[in-house]
Amino acid sequence: MIRLQNVSKTYDNGANFAVADTSFSVEKGQLMGLIGESGCGKTTTLKMINRLEEPSSGVVFVGDNNVMDSQPEELRRNIGYVFQGIGLFPHYTVAENVAAVPQLLQWEENRIQARVQATLAMVGLPYEDYGDRYPTQLSGGQQQRIGVARALAAEPDVVLMDEPFGALDPITRAELQEEFKRIQSKLDLTVIMVTHDMTEALLMADRIAVMKQGEVLQIGSPAELINSPQHEYVQEIVAMPKRRADRLDEVLRSNGTGAVSS
Ligand SMILES: Nc1ncnc2c1ncn2[C@@H]1O[C@H](COP(=O)(O)OP(=O)(O)OP(=O)(O)O)[C@@H](O)[C@H]1O
Ligand SMILES: [Mg+2]
Repeated sequence: MIRLQNVSKTYDNGANFAVADTSFSVEKGQLMGLIGESGCGKTTTLKMINRLEEPSSGVVFVGDNNVMDSQPEELRRNIGYVFQGIGLFPHYTVAENVAAVPQLLQWEENRIQARVQATLAMVGLPYEDYGDRYPTQLSGGQQQRIGVARALAAEPDVVLMDEPFGALDPITRAELQEEFKRIQSKLDLTVIMVTHDMTEALLMADRIAVMKQGEVLQIGSPAELINSPQHEYVQEIVAMPKRRADRLDEVLRSNGTGAVSS
């Protein structure tokens, strides 16, 4: 459904590469997690899929189409996305924000209404309470959830998400992760999700791509990455959640509180 072939991106005529000769594909209905340290090229990779950026070399396919053969607006109508720094439309209400793409696609008004209500319920911000508010009347985490609702509103086949749950408290975050995963399976959505949180990647992703300095070091299922990491960095990053859980157990035991796991 998504395929990158030897894709590179330089913002400075080849002095540095934000993304360097990257190839991978994501099958229909799969969720791929994209993880790696700050500045390694995750956002740039996502943006080349819906043409918010264009590759310096290489080819990106969505379905059978080379994205450079599609109109950018057309592409973005068919691919849901939630990006860092690309916020909600400030002069639209919550309901109008979520309805924006279905409206562009000229859905019938009844269908749009039903869809807006359903997606808002899904992210835990019911239409009755939040539909008429403006983005400035929401918390950061609520805005982020409306962003997820907006990305899913037009029932896209492909969804690109850049740290979609980053600003949420742990309980809301866990709920939304589960809810999103359920919807993704039900609708057979193809998703690439950037995250800094390896636990989130392990819990949600069918496959995980680990990036470093513009390159994908390894792609595999959570089990493959844990059982046969091919780089020290991959080994380190996949071991992190377990290491933290072990450390937490240790601390709780020494406080006489008992373990959280095992
Ligand atoms: N528009 C731009 N112009 C010049 N350089 C850029 C531009 N966008 C990104 N870069 C550079 O490209 C590299 C990759 O950036 P990118 O935003 O893809 O990183 P990232 O992995 O998403 O990082 P983070 O986790 O901090 O969001 C960085 O070195 C960044 O400074
Ligand atoms: Mg980024």
